[in-house]
Amino acid sequence: MNISSRLALKMLVRGLRNKFEERPISVSFEITHYCTANCWHCNWGGPVKGEQRLQAEDYAAICEELRPVVSHLSGGEPLARTDVYEIARAMANPGNLPWMILVSNAAALTADKYWRLREAGINQFSISLDFPDDRHSEFRRIPGLFEKMNRVIPEITGLGNNDLSLNACITAWNYRDLPGMVELAKRWNTQINFSVYSTLRINDENGMPRDEQLEEVRETFQKVIDMKKAGYPVYSSERVMWKYFQFFTDRGIPGCQAGRRFLVINPDGMLTPCAMVWAKYKTQREMLHEFTANNTCEQCFISTRANTEKKLGDLFADNWEMMVKQVFSRPKKRAVLPAEPAATPGELAGVVEGREGELDPEGRPLTHLALHPDAATREVRQPMTDREAEAGP
Ligand SMILES: C[S@@+](CC[C@H](N)C(=O)[O-])C[C@H]1O[C@@H](n2cnc3c(N)ncnc32)[C@H](O)[C@@H]1O
Ligand code: SF4
Repeated sequence: MNISSRLALKMLVRGLRNKFEERPISVSFEITHYCTANCWHCNWGGPVKGEQRLQAEDYAAICEELRPVVSHLSGGEPLARTDVYEIARAMANPGNLPWMILVSNAAALTADKYWRLREAGINQFSISLDFPDDRHSEFRRIPGLFEKMNRVIPEITGLGNNDLSLNACITAWNYRDLPGMVELAKRWNTQINFSVYSTLRINDENGMPRDEQLEEVRETFQKVIDMKKAGYPVYSSERVMWKYFQFFTDRGIPGCQAGRRFLVINPDGMLTPCAMVWAKYKTQREMLHEFTANNTCEQCFISTRANTEKKLGDLFADNWEMMVKQVFSRPKKRAVLPAEPAATPGELAGVVEGREGELDPEGRPLTHLALHPDAATREVRQPMTDREAEAGP
């Protein structure tokens, strides 16, 4: 991220204005629901029959109309669309807002695509991570995915542009691994932002920590906060981490602002209040009136909600340090710099083998993820070649 002081000021002004005018702070453009992965916690995975998609300029027109502070290109897997560059280019407003973030599983990411997307106008790359080792590949059902990320991410962060970060959804399956993920973020020379699991996507209660696990969750969160205080690259603030904990203990957080502070654009251009509610609207006004005004849902507290529903003072307190850092860092020109040495397959295996003998509370070995209940019916994918990724669904 390289935010100039002028852009930081524009973000603040537009954020305040949007709040006042009931325009969204953040809009997630789900440009396809096709996905190259098939994650345990997600409803997407594989092809989507008969998906209606808009063209680049149509998304740009919606973006211009909604005028968010931040826009995400997401999905499904946004890199599965061959025209993702045109979409980014059409929506970009160089040196101006919205701040554009690509949210990806990185299966099809290469340093070259990174440069092309950056040149097309992507300001920040948010890469999802669920485990600090090869269990990530199992969870996402893409063999070899972690190893690929272990090569490509340090290659990109080694360029010094400071525009790639990790995002990790905390679940009952991975909460013990949060400190390991923070360590990995440091090793990969990047930041990590946390979010929390919601049952709304796949209706699987197993992803929510059970009551008897909450004390261990609390201790792990405290460890992450301590690591942040010790200088580890954790973006989530202490305040937000404890809100996540509250979400797990109370099984919900009231006051959802979906449709007002944030919303989702579907591949066909229809508006949805959030990625987990299937109510479709043609305009934000219609959505505010019919959905947001009557919304009592409190079943998710994903990072977008946590960050767009903050009070102004909290928003400033949580971001000033990052802003100062960004304002004073300089963007790098495209150059092929030597990549940071990636871990060898042996080292990778070591990470996994290091857990040999450890058991989870159900007595399942931690070396391999215990099979998810629907594992038999969900397909394991092979890593895609770049050509396959380009070809899309
Ligand atoms: C739906 S994905 C789309 C972008 C891309 N395919 C990826 O995985 O980054 C966006 C984010 O949603 C998160 N996610 C998926 N299922 C979730 C759930 N049940 N609760 C909360 N977050 C979830 C993923 O971990 C990911 O970081
Ligand atoms: S979380 Fe992302 S990568 Fe995983 S299945 Fe969902 S959309 Fe695909």
